[in-house]
Amino acid sequence: MAEDLLEAENVCVGYGRGDIVHGVDVSVSAGRIATIIGPNGAGKSTMIKTIAGVLTRREGSIRIDGREIGGKPASEIARCGVAYVPQEANVFRQLTVTENLQMGSWIEPKEFDARYEKVCALFPILKERAKVRAGNLSGGQRQMVAFGMALMVEPKVLLLDEPSAGLSPAMVEQMFDIIKQVNKTGIAVLMVEQNAMQALKISDHGYVMAAGQVAMSAPASELLDSSEVSELYLGTRQ
Ligand SMILES: Nc1ncnc2c1ncn2[C@@H]1O[C@H](COP(=O)(O)OP(=O)(O)OP(=O)(O)O)[C@@H](O)[C@H]1O
Ligand SMILES: [Mg+2]
Repeated sequence: MAEDLLEAENVCVGYGRGDIVHGVDVSVSAGRIATIIGPNGAGKSTMIKTIAGVLTRREGSIRIDGREIGGKPASEIARCGVAYVPQEANVFRQLTVTENLQMGSWIEPKEFDARYEKVCALFPILKERAKVRAGNLSGGQRQMVAFGMALMVEPKVLLLDEPSAGLSPAMVEQMFDIIKQVNKTGIAVLMVEQNAMQALKISDHGYVMAAGQVAMSAPASELLDSSEVSELYLGTRQ
């Protein structure tokens, strides 16, 4: 069987003495969307930070196209095609939209012009607000800047930590549409989401994490149909 684009296997990681994530496997195929759901404190953000290299895995393997990235610094992981949008503090608030996008193109500054046009084709509002400081934008627009920065590296995989957090219901819809659009350009997405139902609806695969482990791994449609998942995470009862 062909390797998935991103494969994390048996990952263990923590902050202090003990581990928070205990032997987690997650993977995403090229061009697909996978979502991790689960209760607060389950280790979802910890897992995604570890793939991005913000934290270093203590055990296990993390591969992109079969190449080991576990243990490498975040900058090198970015060069391997992994872009990460954290849940918070994901833009430079004092910098303008354009300056933020310039920061995003740090790997290949010469590509700025071409990539800027691509990102603005996806988010036309960013061109309109080019000279506005990110801190003065609405939450939704700021999230587009964060996505735009990540896309400036032309990643193979986009890691998103709760992209819809703090947005109005209308903006949440729009954010999931944007994720679908980004994915249609060929970029694989691995996201963590509290809006489990909406996230799973646009996903190919879903994981439920609980207490630092993968409690369920199944096609997203199966998780949406599962009465256990519905009761616990989707806010609906069957
Ligand atoms: N920087 C940190 N230092 C120490 N412990 C941390 C740190 N960040 C998170 N933790 C702990 O690790 C555990 C998992 O946290 P994590 O943020 O990964 O959970 P999560 O599944 O993303 O939760 P949420 O849904 O609330 O975002 C929690 O017990 C949390 O208190
Ligand atoms: Mg989290």
